[in-house]
Amino acid sequence: MAKKDYKLPSLNDARKRNKEVSEKLSFVLEEQYKDLGKDKKYFLVTHGCQANQRDSETIAGILDEMGYTPSEDEEKADLIIINTCAVRQGAEEKVLGEIGALKRLKTANSDLIIGMCGCMAQEEKTVSLIMEKYRQVDIIFGTHNITSLPKLLYEVNTTRTRKIEVFSKMGEIIESVPVTRFMSHKAWVNIMYGCDKFCTYCIVPYTRGKERSRYKEDIIFEVEELVKQGYKEVCLLGQNVNAYGKDLHNDYTFGNLLNDVAKTGIARIRFMTSHPWDFDDTMIEAIKNNSNIMPYIHLPIQSGNTGILKKMNRRYSREEYFELYDKLKRELPGFAFTTDIIVGFPNESDEAFEDTMSAVEHCEYDNAFTFIYSKREGTPAANMEDTIDRKTKEERLQRLNERVAFYANKNNQRFKDQIVEVLVDGLSKRNSNVYSGYTPENKLVNFTANNVKTGDLVKVKITEVMSFSLNGECIEE
Ligand code: 5AD
Ligand code: SF4
Repeated sequence: MAKKDYKLPSLNDARKRNKEVSEKLSFVLEEQYKDLGKDKKYFLVTHGCQANQRDSETIAGILDEMGYTPSEDEEKADLIIINTCAVRQGAEEKVLGEIGALKRLKTANSDLIIGMCGCMAQEEKTVSLIMEKYRQVDIIFGTHNITSLPKLLYEVNTTRTRKIEVFSKMGEIIESVPVTRFMSHKAWVNIMYGCDKFCTYCIVPYTRGKERSRYKEDIIFEVEELVKQGYKEVCLLGQNVNAYGKDLHNDYTFGNLLNDVAKTGIARIRFMTSHPWDFDDTMIEAIKNNSNIMPYIHLPIQSGNTGILKKMNRRYSREEYFELYDKLKRELPGFAFTTDIIVGFPNESDEAFEDTMSAVEHCEYDNAFTFIYSKREGTPAANMEDTIDRKTKEERLQRLNERVAFYANKNNQRFKDQIVEVLVDGLSKRNSNVYSGYTPENKLVNFTANNVKTGDLVKVKITEVMSFSLNGECIEE
């Protein structure tokens, strides 16, 4: 391919927003693509968050409809697709290492097609790098271009040239896209795409575009179908679920959606992620009034210091977060709460970090996902001065993790000797003599049992309590 006869994505374009209601389109696989995958195997690697997991299920669904079959073995695949994550530097380095290692397979088999998609594909710097230095990659497609995969595969097959399609902006919602779900008992259900919050450290609003809600009818239909297929749990997905529906301007809120999804009768409903901003009373009421909405809320705080929160553009102060958090704790007794925390945001002082430590003490979270700030090119925080050295940040993370573990353990003590309901995921990944699954509060339980299977809801007596998991024995199979 001649130099730059392809269009690079632009984070700058991706920043732009308009108020238009997103158009709804319907996916149809064109006839000419239907047999393209006959006798061919694909291997799909997924990095990152639940949105990426769900996207990979769509990619698998499309490939299956094209006649491809999944392969457990990368070495035997005719097509390898890597679905990437750009949220932190570490995730990107891992992907580049993986793509680098694929050169060996490509050299051994020039017919092998390698595709790269996901959030890294939305970054111009990554696409330039791949085009120049990772020539083993044949296809790059963006988060808004998944439904173009059949066309791109067809073109690569017929022209034997590298293909890129990455739209920086997306105004549409595409329905009726095939899906091959990776689990038979729990399902991810997108309720909206994108994010308009623009936290200053975060690349997601650029890589996933503007907030676009799916129509409630499509979401409820999807959940009803899952119930018919025997699914026990749905997790409603959005970068910021509280904003559901705002772009549709029809007064139907996330609280309304929770009530309607609950009516489908699915055994367990979860949702991710809630932003403390506009976590309104209709949501709290819906959560309270429906016993199939699980007693678990993930509410990222990011920092406990008002100055840092302001620089992060989080739209709440330490006190406002506590006000909401304390209200949720009061109104939703027995619920588990988790959070996300970033340490080492540019120029985070010792005092500011101590505010995060004391916030953890105040909130006594069941768990927290903790990260060292990672500079993301193209975001506002990337231009902020940062004089804090890596070692200090690592020490802060270590101290924070110890405090998080202390409260995780403290919270778990209430389950000792209790009988809990567990949705069985299957045999434990770590120990094939025990099963694992989650309680309504999203506590991981490893337990012994004689005759259970994936998707069963069983009663387990908790015999041992650790910080991040519980052990028990099944008493009712
Ligand atoms: N550096 C570190 N952590 C980040 N997150 C998002 N962007 C960054 C970044 N640049 C974290 C936030 C978010 C979670 C999904 O990832 O805590 O809630
Ligand atoms: Fe990123 Fe903030 Fe949007 Fe979450 S709410 S995806 S942290 S910009």
